[in-house]
Amino acid sequence: MTTPMFEQYARLKAKLKDEILFFRMGDFYEMFYEDAQIASKVLGIALTTRSNGKTPVPMAGVPHHSVHAYLKKFIQAGYKVAICEQVEDPKQAKGVVKREIVRILTPGTLLEEELLEEKSSNFLLAIFLHKNTAGLSWLDISTGDFFATDLSASQLFDEVDKIAPKECILPTSFRKEEHRSLRQSLEQILDKNALTYLEDWHFDPTSSKRRLRELLGVKSLKGYGIQGKEVFLSCCGALIEYIESTQPQAKAHIKSIQKLQPSHYMQLDIATQRTLELVRTMRGNSKKFTLLHTIDRTQTPMGNRLLQHWLLHPLVDLSQIQRRQDAVCELFQNGHLCDQLQASLKSVYDVERLCSKISTQNATPRDLVSLRLSLEQLPQIHGILAQTKSCLLRSLYQDFDLLEDVHGLLEKAIHPRPPLHLQDGGVIQAGYHPPLDRLRQLAQQGQQWLQEYQRKEAARTNIPSLKVGFNNVFGYYIEITHAHAHKVPEDYVRKQTLKNAERYITPELKEFETQVLTAREKAIELEVQLFQQIRSEVAQQLRRLQKTAVILATLDCLQSLAKVAQEHRYHPPTLVSEPVLDIQEGRHPVLEQVVEEPFVPNDLKLHPRRRLLILTGPNMAGKSTFIRQVALICILAQMGSFVPAKSARIGVVDKLFTRLGSNDELYRGLSTFMVEMLETAQILNHATSQSLVLLDEVGRGTSTYDGISLAWAISEYVHNQLGCRCLFATHYHELTQLERQLPYAFNNQVAIQEWKDRILFLHKIQDGYANKSYGIHVAKLAGIPPKILHRAKQILKALEDHARLLSPQLSLFEGLFAEDSSSDAGGVEGGAKEPGASLSPLSSVQHQILEELQQLQPDHITPLEALQRIQKWHSALAQRENCPG
Ligand SMILES: Nc1ncnc2c1ncn2[C@@H]1O[C@H](COP(=O)(O)OP(=O)(O)OP(=O)(O)O)[C@@H](O)[C@H]1O
Ligand SMILES: [Mg+2]
Repeated sequence: MTTPMFEQYARLKAKLKDEILFFRMGDFYEMFYEDAQIASKVLGIALTTRSNGKTPVPMAGVPHHSVHAYLKKFIQAGYKVAICEQVEDPKQAKGVVKREIVRILTPGTLLEEELLEEKSSNFLLAIFLHKNTAGLSWLDISTGDFFATDLSASQLFDEVDKIAPKECILPTSFRKEEHRSLRQSLEQILDKNALTYLEDWHFDPTSSKRRLRELLGVKSLKGYGIQGKEVFLSCCGALIEYIESTQPQAKAHIKSIQKLQPSHYMQLDIATQRTLELVRTMRGNSKKFTLLHTIDRTQTPMGNRLLQHWLLHPLVDLSQIQRRQDAVCELFQNGHLCDQLQASLKSVYDVERLCSKISTQNATPRDLVSLRLSLEQLPQIHGILAQTKSCLLRSLYQDFDLLEDVHGLLEKAIHPRPPLHLQDGGVIQAGYHPPLDRLRQLAQQGQQWLQEYQRKEAARTNIPSLKVGFNNVFGYYIEITHAHAHKVPEDYVRKQTLKNAERYITPELKEFETQVLTAREKAIELEVQLFQQIRSEVAQQLRRLQKTAVILATLDCLQSLAKVAQEHRYHPPTLVSEPVLDIQEGRHPVLEQVVEEPFVPNDLKLHPRRRLLILTGPNMAGKSTFIRQVALICILAQMGSFVPAKSARIGVVDKLFTRLGSNDELYRGLSTFMVEMLETAQILNHATSQSLVLLDEVGRGTSTYDGISLAWAISEYVHNQLGCRCLFATHYHELTQLERQLPYAFNNQVAIQEWKDRILFLHKIQDGYANKSYGIHVAKLAGIPPKILHRAKQILKALEDHARLLSPQLSLFEGLFAEDSSSDAGGVEGGAKEPGASLSPLSSVQHQILEELQQLQPDHITPLEALQRIQKWHSALAQRENCPG
């Protein structure tokens, strides 16, 4: 026989898919059956049983007041949790208390600050594919940020990595075999548990449009620039549906939807975002030692989140970049104003997340106080903005809403130090609502009456230690120690015996109790009502609050950029449209804060006639550092920031590509070299003449000749075909000959000083090229045993001697490239400086002869035939000698 409670449990559980059901029973959330077993493992709590009729059922429970800690553990372990509450007063329940599922917690639909990371967005992303287009829409319900975009399917993973969603919704058809590689790639970028599949019909564009219109409260989507974009409209619909299904009681709260146009931002592919360590480090995935961490002086969590967005979306429109830079410049120059702004922002809370909590009716009394304290800063900030001149700051000033009405309401209505829970009373300010004051007075007068009663009874009984107290079981009582037991009057009724005392009640005390307790209860009831009213009233002003939150976040980012520019001596870059890069005394923003010795600044000058830099230098010299710092400087410049350089003139970069270092992805079934080539292919297929390409030791992952050949051919292609700016750091000293081959290529090297058997790293970039790697020196520094070093030196010498002997052949080998480059040179402007001959090359004629020779079968030809062939080759070679190229 199943008990009615377990019947109710089974009914609710049947509505769920694979969520753990938290079943509220009094002060506990209980889990049963398999859920209880999982809970006992995941949460480390005791497994008990509860009987269902005659059958014992596994049970585990957590107290409601500390539920968040347990929820967090479940979510982190990849589970989803359904919360079931009692939705009627147990005292009034006939039979089993009514219960309902009020919320389903999933990683992408969290609202509770206890479960959220303060400084990260908590995006839920939906993806839909149609032919070669990917639709994406993503929403953070804790802030209301809502974005959508459509892009070519090949850019999908770059964008997903940037968004870094906590949960991702896909149509179930993605489970099919044909989508396996897409699914696997997503599982690598995200957590496997982060993928949630919804039936394909959730992505129906027609119903999606309707849902979106309803959510935005508009009749038409015209004004949003998203009409006709079915791929991401489909995603929006699925997203909204999912959110509503996880919080049936509250409507998703969103700011207006923003369409992100990939062409409005510098394109950063996934490898670039990761290897440049913009927001996370490669090792350890930490935030420390990232560019974001270095430039972050924001004072509010919403400012921090926006700064991250700016960093991952550098602008490409010159006027927009200038607008931001002008604002930063003004705050930089007017340090006093910037300090004031920073001080005010310090007292501002996470208004974005507060808005979400208010609109979903999750805001507590203390949340409203946080909102009031934040709004209190507005007049001061408004006053600061009034003194500014730059275009962006002026426009923020003009759009500024002081929200005096909301502030006034909160100040008048909510107590400045309310208790944690509404039920404790004391949330509403005295004077706000006279009937509440009267009830409170009644309860208050009760206190005086009690004191008076205690005094009177002590006198009547002649027991000075007589005390009136209160507990939840007996209500008010009189307590008398055993020593005075003989003096207790007859009208006292004994209720409880303690070790040292007895407790009594009297009719008079009971009557008082009824009066006071009802007054108190009524007061609390009234407070709850009033609080909900106030919260809804504030929620009515949501759009205005959100707008203010965005202004505050923007100001926070701008002041952060100004502050960091002051602290680290950054300078404003000049941005232009021509593809140039002229950096004087540039530094690596992150490394300069970390290295112990002074950081050595370096220059770079690139322009259309000097655009492929081949950078050589010993190990540890600073090649990788230099090319990374150039990338970071460009990103900073295009996000509107100052840059770590004495001066910089930067031609806007449309796409930044890097192929830096080797990151093994063995788990993806890809070898080091395969990853290297995949990333390089990505660059070669997508870069434009306005792009910046950074290559670090490309080709290193294979045999030397293969590596050099690839590196050489890639450089030629970048130079001739793409015609973009490119920095190539390499240990292949052969590549330094490209300077002679390609008109717009040039060499730089990183200087070192040799001293006795040692080398001194100067980290200074100079003209010229290096022809030694000093790898063995670096190995020595790293502590490789002397025996090995000695042996390595011997081998090196032998190899070098051998190479000298072979040098004629080597130069023949080099010639191969010259021939190819001249034949390829037609693509973009440029080509070989000294066509063909410059590299004593193996010409196509020579090549052909070698091939013929190889294919020849001496046993099958006559001596005459052999002689004829030799003559033919000889004359072909002679001809080439007379007419090079
Ligand atoms: N400009 C600089 N000023 C001060 N220290 C620097 C500078 N550049 C590099 N360094 C220091 O030298 C170290 C090595 O630099 P980096 O990794 O760039 O060398 P590399 O030339 O790429 O070496 P490898 O050929 O082994 O890859 C850095 O970690 C840093 O500590
Ligand atoms: Mg390096």
